[in-house]
Amino acid sequence: MSSYILGIESSCDDTSAAVLKDSILCSNIISSQKIHEQYGGVVPELASRSHLQNIVPVIDTAIKNANINKSQISAIAFTRGPGLLGSLLVGTSFAKALAYGLNVPLIEVDHLQAHVLSHFIQLSEDVKEVPTFPFLCLTVSGGHTQILLIKDYFDFEIIGQTIDDAAGEAFDKAAKILGLPYPGGPLIDALAKEGNPHAFKFSEANLPNFDFSFSGLKTSFLYFLRDNLKKDENFIEKNKADLAASIQNAIIHSLTKKTVVAAKYLNIKQIAIAGGVSANSELRNQFTQIANNENWKLFLPSLQFTTDNAAMIAIVGYFKFLKGDFCSLDSVPYTRYGKG
Ligand code: KG4
Ligand code: ZN
Repeated sequence: MSSYILGIESSCDDTSAAVLKDSILCSNIISSQKIHEQYGGVVPELASRSHLQNIVPVIDTAIKNANINKSQISAIAFTRGPGLLGSLLVGTSFAKALAYGLNVPLIEVDHLQAHVLSHFIQLSEDVKEVPTFPFLCLTVSGGHTQILLIKDYFDFEIIGQTIDDAAGEAFDKAAKILGLPYPGGPLIDALAKEGNPHAFKFSEANLPNFDFSFSGLKTSFLYFLRDNLKKDENFIEKNKADLAASIQNAIIHSLTKKTVVAAKYLNIKQIAIAGGVSANSELRNQFTQIANNENWKLFLPSLQFTTDNAAMIAIVGYFKFLKGDFCSLDSVPYTRYGKG
């Protein structure tokens, strides 16, 4: 018999609910909070209040769009962490109350694991190819940057990670310096299409292992602009596209370089990318070229599963449902990675 899993995601500034029938997507509703744009970043207290306003209509729409009624839900999966505490509490509390009310199992999900396992969501009955174990996944989001060796659904090894800023944070901070609103990653992506990626060079970190560092790059970008703005106050306006393309190129270069070295070192020929930054068109292009050259199999997530979404929470929920891995109503959110 098929199972219907309701997924709920509320870790940061997207309120999302999704329904999967086994691993097949039935609905995925995402309400992105616009309120943070004017503040240049996510304001935690405003995020949790927006979740409170959004959560009922978002879940209701997800269930309606899936063409099911509540009594058909087999289990409820929710993001337990990492994320903002107030935001997580909204989704966690709602999931508990609904699971209790419907008398169905409750499943806690790690947000980062969900970004990786989003590759196993099927869009239709025509089954698409999914990665086989082991594969390497570069997870690049607003809060995390990791190269992971995925040995099984629930067996991940961290091969490398950022020692300071995340890749998405680097995009957002560079965008802020350019005067663009939050989140700046997609805006840099769009601007960069009109610019020359080799117009300007910024100092990239060169750590000896598989770790990343982006804070030096941001400082190099900031000082470069500060110096040039002294000479010409319109420097940013005149060079916006070239600046966006060049900083994007530097971030992507760090990401691809380390991933390639790690894949060769581990002799892994299947690469996946996940997380908000995996929506970046140039990152996707460059990985496509690399995979062609190296004869690797590349898994690019469909765009709706790159940034935060509840379908990825529901797919982890589905795999845990198969194992009977449920949690109790005592489950509490955790805010940091590895604290689960
Ligand atoms: O996965 P996500 O939605 O949230 C976290 O778990 O952090 O990732 C959000 C991040 C933001 O930093 C945003 O600027 C970045 O993903 N992002 C992009 C693009 N789309 C989203 N960065 C570069 N290019 C994009 N197209
Ligand atoms: Zn995320």
